[in-house]
Amino acid sequence: MKSLFDRTKMGTLSMRNRFIRAAVSDTTFGGFVEETMITNYAAIARGGVAAIVTGMTLVDGEEHMFPVVALCSDSFILGHRKLAEAVHRHDVRLIAQLAYIGSYAAVGDNTWIVAIAPSSVSNIVTGTLAREMRLGEIKLIQKRFADAAARAREAGYDGVEIHCAHGLLLSQFLTPYYNRRTDEYGGSIENRSRMIIETYTQIRSATGYDFPVWVKLNCDDGIEDGITEEDFLYVCGLLSKAGIDAIEVSGNWTPHIFKVGPYFRAAATAAADNSAPTIITGGNRRVSTMHEILNKTNIEFFGIARPFAREPDLIDRFRRECEKLPAGDEKFRKSSSF
Ligand SMILES: Cc1cc2nc3c(=O)[nH]c(=O)nc-3n(C[C@H](O)[C@H](O)[C@H](O)COP(=O)(O)O)c2cc1C
Repeated sequence: MKSLFDRTKMGTLSMRNRFIRAAVSDTTFGGFVEETMITNYAAIARGGVAAIVTGMTLVDGEEHMFPVVALCSDSFILGHRKLAEAVHRHDVRLIAQLAYIGSYAAVGDNTWIVAIAPSSVSNIVTGTLAREMRLGEIKLIQKRFADAAARAREAGYDGVEIHCAHGLLLSQFLTPYYNRRTDEYGGSIENRSRMIIETYTQIRSATGYDFPVWVKLNCDDGIEDGITEEDFLYVCGLLSKAGIDAIEVSGNWTPHIFKVGPYFRAAATAAADNSAPTIITGGNRRVSTMHEILNKTNIEFFGIARPFAREPDLIDRFRRECEKLPAGDEKFRKSSSF
């Protein structure tokens, strides 16, 4: 039987258990890592998690006005290096989540900000009307991701995660509602996945195959004309074949915010059957449920985000609770104390 606390490997990355702090964006000004961020990450690292994915990190200076951290120029590397050192002191891996926000950002009255997107469509969440990207811009954004990944490596990160979920720019390429292009980046799922595959390939060229690259994908956009499960599985297969190190399965989680229980379980289970190591994120709260998933499916890792805000040492508590349990799968499953 597999244990949530197995010391295990994800590709080349040695992990002390199967729990990952999923990305939570860090508010900061000017894109720099701040001391409070280092203190918070160190507390979570001390609290027993195996890896931390940073909040979305901007790859392009064009988005510098958004108050999250950045890796869009070399001047940001020093702060990230301090963050990585603080986390590594606790035998915890640190993954930089790379993002281009696009029309998911509310620009409000700041009409001087022109968001770009696969097509000129109003964002359902923010109302931001985007300008359709030109082919040259598509290639430029791919390069921005690759350059930021190289900086992450230089800063001492253990890997990067490409943010292709939650309606951000790369995710929009997969979503028929947002992607109405008629060129090689729109239409069929082969075409809609091209932006992500090319971005991944560019990152590999910049960082090499020994540097872990993860992806966070929506299995369900939660909108009409969103990605289908078939399309999602197609992209998982394509990325796995291309050598991605892990796939974090997410989706539009906001309708589920009060739910306890992994609401993307079905899609993550299907993905894990044919893919690179799979991380399931969203609603993971009960050790008994995660233990069952670990032993009944091919899902191997569990992403948790919001609970760490009030309990940075959540995983240490999980471990203590597990140790108190009598041996035996059946008793374990019946426990409702988590
Ligand atoms: C305040 C906040 C900020 C978030 N920022 C990010 C982010 O930067 N990147 C990302 O992929 N997901 C982000 N998420 C989503 C989480 O990673 C996760 O997918 C979601 O919260 C569901 O997991 P949970 O039920 O364990 O909280 C954020 C969530 C919250 C609550």
